[in-house]
Amino acid sequence: MSHYRRTHTCGELRNTDEGQKVTLCGWVHKRRDHGGLIFLDLRDRYGLTQLVIDPERSPGAHAAAGKLRMEWVIAVTGKVTSRKDGMQNSQMSTGDIEIDVEEFTLLSEAKTPPIAVADDGTETHEETRLRYRYLDMRRGELGANLERRHLAMLAARTYLDKKGFLEITTPILGRSTPEGARDYLVPSRLFPGNFFALPQSPQLFKQLLMIGGMDRYFQIAPCFRDEDLRADRQPEFHQIDLEMSFVTPADVQLMTEEMLAAIFDKVTGMEIPHPFKRMTHLEALERYGSDRPDLRYGLELIRLDDIAKDCGFAIFKEGIASGNIVKAIRVIGGAELSRKEVEKLGSFVASFGLKGLAWMKHTDGTLSGGISKFFSPEELSAIEKRMEAESGDLLLFACAPENVVNQALDHLRRHLAKERGLIDHDELNFVWVTDFPLFSWDEEENRIAAEHHPFTAPHPEDIALLDSDPLKVRSLAYDIVLNGYELGGGSQRIHDPKLQEKLFGLLKLSSEEIREKFGFFVDALSNGTPPHAGIALGFDRLAMILCSTDNIRDVIAFPKTLKALDLMMQSPAPVRSEQWQDLSLKEVDPKGITFV
Ligand code: AMO
Repeated sequence: MSHYRRTHTCGELRNTDEGQKVTLCGWVHKRRDHGGLIFLDLRDRYGLTQLVIDPERSPGAHAAAGKLRMEWVIAVTGKVTSRKDGMQNSQMSTGDIEIDVEEFTLLSEAKTPPIAVADDGTETHEETRLRYRYLDMRRGELGANLERRHLAMLAARTYLDKKGFLEITTPILGRSTPEGARDYLVPSRLFPGNFFALPQSPQLFKQLLMIGGMDRYFQIAPCFRDEDLRADRQPEFHQIDLEMSFVTPADVQLMTEEMLAAIFDKVTGMEIPHPFKRMTHLEALERYGSDRPDLRYGLELIRLDDIAKDCGFAIFKEGIASGNIVKAIRVIGGAELSRKEVEKLGSFVASFGLKGLAWMKHTDGTLSGGISKFFSPEELSAIEKRMEAESGDLLLFACAPENVVNQALDHLRRHLAKERGLIDHDELNFVWVTDFPLFSWDEEENRIAAEHHPFTAPHPEDIALLDSDPLKVRSLAYDIVLNGYELGGGSQRIHDPKLQEKLFGLLKLSSEEIREKFGFFVDALSNGTPPHAGIALGFDRLAMILCSTDNIRDVIAFPKTLKALDLMMQSPAPVRSEQWQDLSLKEVDPKGITFV
């Protein structure tokens, strides 16, 4: 019989188990020697249990226990005893008992750990935690995050199953799909010069599943995008991806709201009231400068062109005349900021392309200081009224092309909210952003591009503009935004092959390119396609919010760094010459990578 057949976990035993003979297994978490007695904390995923080894009662076990070190793996058998009064530990779920060890078996030794596993208060450099991820996992926080992630997946699956969705896996080795990032490519050995692309999302497959009559599909889908990384982006990530037939966006949105409510309830016990707020893309940009506004705080952007167009401040007057816009933010209580602090905000926005940040303060009942001297009393009073300015406020003004003002003030808004402690970290503020433009202008390539992806349906009211003014066409795309994060995005799809071909044409794809890249898809659309719509939620981003972290790596078991490196496996890595040859690739000297 194996010595490590557990009767209980390390988080399970209580006073009511007193007298029972039990076997526990786990890692040596802490060890204390007290006048002959050895005390050990034994740890597993479920908790800690105190072990006592008495030299008189168990001389063999005691002698062997003398060698034990932190993180060694052992199995122990002994009796559950209640701790004496005053010796209980209310911090531990098993703090009322201990195990009087009769025998133990050493299952595995451990080197001195490079991470202080037992002391989760110790700050360990993230690179070390990534290098020794399996040790980091033994500490409380990452393990707890992975458990929350599991619960979130379970809640999503349970909800969607109840609603008749089928979980269907789709290929990893596929063809490039147009999500807009660079593809990860896999060379084909059998067909030299040909490549598979790893999916940026299962977009085409899920639409094909609708054509195939599957009606309701979902998948916790792995996606791969070779793009610049940020704190909320990984090169490989997961989406809760879903698609539905014979529906409109409202149906997908309701389903998403209910699913999110089920997930938050399961993981956090929080109740999520819905329907969520809705805001058009235009309104989001106008009021917050961003299509992913954080609505947990105010600091709205207020347009002032009409008031400022004739003012005495040349930068505003001439700027507006040449097509720039003026927007301002009211910072409640900001009048207390010193000139230096206001200048610092100016340097902050400079990194987002805004050349200057003008200001006024509301003190002694009027707007004064900064650029106020360039405005007439009527103009000042109009600004005061529009901004709802009150005594003690600071008003910050930006004048530049619309996109620059929006981008800079969006960052400023987020920055001020953090600095001034305006964020309620317990609040969940969901909003649907709708009516995105169908196209955007790609500056680099000097042509129009799909804002979401080229399978998104145009807004029916704007079809007539497709030829005359395509950049004005709204789409039936929607994003779900939570606390300033783009949590997910989806759309009603085009189900008419002629309209799909027209759209490809507007995107300047030649008929040859259409045939070559999407021929199979347009062909599929011509085989009887149900109207369909769907959405994909960034699952790792959702997990970040469920785990109250702003670092996506905190919720992924084996994440990559911002440079897309796996520090533990040390990948990417060179391959042997024969492998280059097998793949008919021209060998190059690999660039050396520093992993630590
Ligand atoms: P989209 O490209 O908007 O839509 O992606 C959906 C959601 O996936 C998350 N996401 C990411 N998360 C982590 N790291 C990344 N690199 C990353 N990139 C995206 C975001 C985003 O909102 N096929 C469409 C969906 C559809 O139309 O149904 C799609 O993939 O939270």
